[in-house]
Amino acid sequence: MLTNPLTKNVIDQNIATDIERYLGNGGYQGWRKALTMRPEEIINQVKEGGLRGRGGAGFNTGLKWSFVPRGENAPRQKFIVCNADEMEPGTFKDRLLMERDPHLLLEGMAIAAYAIGASIGYIFIRGEYHLAAERLENAVEEAKAQGLLGSNILDSKFTLEIFIHRSAGNYICGEETALLNALEGRRAIPRAKPPFPQVSGLWGKPTVVNNVETFCNVPHLVELGVDWYRELGRGQDAGSKLFGVSGKVKKPGTWELPMGTPIREIIETYAGGMQDGLELTGFLPGGGSTDFLGPEHLDLPMDYDVIGKAGSRMGTGTIIVLDNETCPIGLVLNLSQFFARESCGWCTPCRDGLPWIVKILQRIEEGAGLPEDLDLLREQCQHIGPGKTFCALAPGAAEPLQSALKLYEQDFIEHIEKRCCPYAELQSGKQS
Ligand code: NAI
Repeated sequence: MLTNPLTKNVIDQNIATDIERYLGNGGYQGWRKALTMRPEEIINQVKEGGLRGRGGAGFNTGLKWSFVPRGENAPRQKFIVCNADEMEPGTFKDRLLMERDPHLLLEGMAIAAYAIGASIGYIFIRGEYHLAAERLENAVEEAKAQGLLGSNILDSKFTLEIFIHRSAGNYICGEETALLNALEGRRAIPRAKPPFPQVSGLWGKPTVVNNVETFCNVPHLVELGVDWYRELGRGQDAGSKLFGVSGKVKKPGTWELPMGTPIREIIETYAGGMQDGLELTGFLPGGGSTDFLGPEHLDLPMDYDVIGKAGSRMGTGTIIVLDNETCPIGLVLNLSQFFARESCGWCTPCRDGLPWIVKILQRIEEGAGLPEDLDLLREQCQHIGPGKTFCALAPGAAEPLQSALKLYEQDFIEHIEKRCCPYAELQSGKQS
């Protein structure tokens, strides 16, 4: 049984950057099968397969596709867009797929385009991902030469052109509606939702935006079916997932594992456990914009709803671990600086709130914090929380901070009382 559909072409030397190798490994079989199916059948299969968006939000992919208007009164022009603007702190999974298996992404996008009736696709790729962009551009040409993309694909009368669009480089461009504005050549600020892009997206036309890893799940799900796909998962959620670990572990990296793999197994077995002499004090389960969980959560399976119930989010599935020699306030300050810098400035709570948070965290870290700063930070988290801002950037930035204020409250108090960062003292003590 195929257990690693996302990375079967990625491992060892078996890298399928050229189409011959991809075809030799069974590539484009899902696409060939999809062209024999009715679009609604594909959408139902993806919905029933339980594929949830791998960009971070976990929305059911088939359900999203089903919102695209169809029938005589629906707009004729529709678009399929791949969100390849991977910029979430600690997240490095989509690059792997695009650099090493670009045809898998094209195949997934082609199936999605056919299912929703889109004839044009864009891959909006992070500006720094030069190698991935080059390999995708090459893959598009190869697929067109084989009649797998372009006009009248495999004599089906279906046409699909895919274009690679390199981002000018801003985190907010990964927010789907800001991404659409950027593609249209406008300032990358989010749009109000609803209407969701499935109804009114690129140039006001129905548009489906999915993440790279989400599209990469589609070919095998369509080719091998719902039962096969659901059985890949070990817990509640279906399929496999690229999980990653960064921080002071022995072997940071990315691995394809069943959904529902316990966090402890990912950290200890795959990432090799903590570096010698260090203890894990907490972790962000899915990138920089998720809430900290503590060591008591290590045995939870990586499933969207389980991590949600524990008080965080599975997000991108790339875990950032914190150890007993790394300052939690330093980590949150670093993340807050990133989010403040990347704010598009459109709404006031985000534009003004994040720099204030940075200022307060900075003074605490530098030993100039005030006892009232903790309440001030808690209050700021309320101001930038869900429902208070235009998009998810600032609420995402609030997550590591609000949870650090609970899990690492004692660290905040010590910084303020001792008027210094105890972790910096620890490091300088080690060096002398
Ligand atoms: P969201 O939950 O608002 O939407 C997720 C998707 O579902 C969107 O495509 C949206 O159009 C669709 N959707 C949601 N509700 C819908 C409804 N009622 N009707 C129709 N469609 C609906 O989340 P959002 O703001 O798109 O993404 C936030 C997530 O992105 C966070 O969880 C974060 O972890 C992740 N993220 C990932 C990054 C990366 O580099 N991979 C960067 C930044 C954030």
